[in-house]
Amino acid sequence: MLCESPISGGHARSKSLHVSGVTSNTVTELGRVTSGMSKMTRRRGFVKCAAAAAAILAVGAITGRYIWTSPTASSCAASLRAAAETRGLLIGAALSPEGLRYWGSADTLAREFNFLTTENAMKWYAVHPAPQQWDFHAADTIVEFASEHQMKVKGHNIIWTDERTPEWVKAERTSEEFRQMLQKHIQTLVGRYKGKVYAWDVVNEAVDTREANGLRKTVFLKRLGEGYIAEAFHMVHEADPDALLFYNDSDAESVDSSAYRKTRSDRVYELVKKLLSDGVPIHGVGLQMHLDAWDYPRPADVAANVRRLAQLGLKVNISEMDVRITEKELPGTLAERLEIQRRIYHDIIAACVKEKGFMAITFWGFTDAYSWIDERFGPDDPLLFDEYYKPKPAYWGVMDALLEE
Ligand code: XIL
Repeated sequence: MLCESPISGGHARSKSLHVSGVTSNTVTELGRVTSGMSKMTRRRGFVKCAAAAAAILAVGAITGRYIWTSPTASSCAASLRAAAETRGLLIGAALSPEGLRYWGSADTLAREFNFLTTENAMKWYAVHPAPQQWDFHAADTIVEFASEHQMKVKGHNIIWTDERTPEWVKAERTSEEFRQMLQKHIQTLVGRYKGKVYAWDVVNEAVDTREANGLRKTVFLKRLGEGYIAEAFHMVHEADPDALLFYNDSDAESVDSSAYRKTRSDRVYELVKKLLSDGVPIHGVGLQMHLDAWDYPRPADVAANVRRLAQLGLKVNISEMDVRITEKELPGTLAERLEIQRRIYHDIIAACVKEKGFMAITFWGFTDAYSWIDERFGPDDPLLFDEYYKPKPAYWGVMDALLEE
């Protein structure tokens, strides 16, 4: 088998590394000799291949002369999807349906990923903006696309912060009225996608360690008390008993030396541990993993956090990964910043995939042509593909991490 290039669909044979002054067949040759090998040998081949490619890239990085869209380990697996499947992992991207309209977008998604998260389409404000108004158009588009391409779907999210919850939900109500309203919402949304949505982010970003009880003040907390999280999980489970149910949060990825991250990850750990001991149907935790290249957790600390969550019997996924590299914060040439980004993607993912119970990696988008980072923090290039859907060094970092022993 010759591995296909995710860029051109052409065979590895036709590719060369675009390192200025260094045109190498190393990757091509390694790619070719992988055919017909045992899985073990192939894995070793992958590692060697990745190492060779990394060495060549390093030469480029030192001289500052490589063209960063270079294919490196491309001959090692046909796609991220293929690489992830060798480990039994899901690999995904957040998607808004507008993203499917652009040329190249649908092809890239279908080839590279086996998991889609509804970026905004299932959020309360999008799907149920007024008491009698539902809009499933965007959500249906994503679910249909996933089904056509044998991808699983994560529904994101059912309960979020007050800023992201429509005003009508926050209207004055008794606890019982609120509970009934929530239940109706969940039955309608989860019921519609029963059997089609594989996993749900049931509650998103509930932790706020500045509060005495460690929970963010929201209308859900106000109306139902601290038990709202457990109640929501029960309601979703009742609406679709086969779906995997996740608690999802940010800046809680790691058992870290940064007090902020450590306090938050400890609070999430305590929260899910308590839910489990109370018999709540929770199956996993999502670590958002929105990282800044100038301040990010140590991979070993992230792995330790994954391990302790998995030891509770939970599945763990990286749920929204992106890595900011804006020149405003990170010094260096573009090539250097992209190399740092590659390394971060690689090191974090390589550490996580080795942990038992780790089941999925989702990126918050896939092309730098569109990322929430630009609208939230200003222009950046936080994802795996450039705006022309060409794999960036970060892509190869992820590929290597997926293929390493
Ligand atoms: C973001 C979307 O990507 C944006 O399009 C939207 O304007 C705001 O929400 N953490 C989450 C996601 O859990 O739902 C957020 O998504 C990004 C941060």
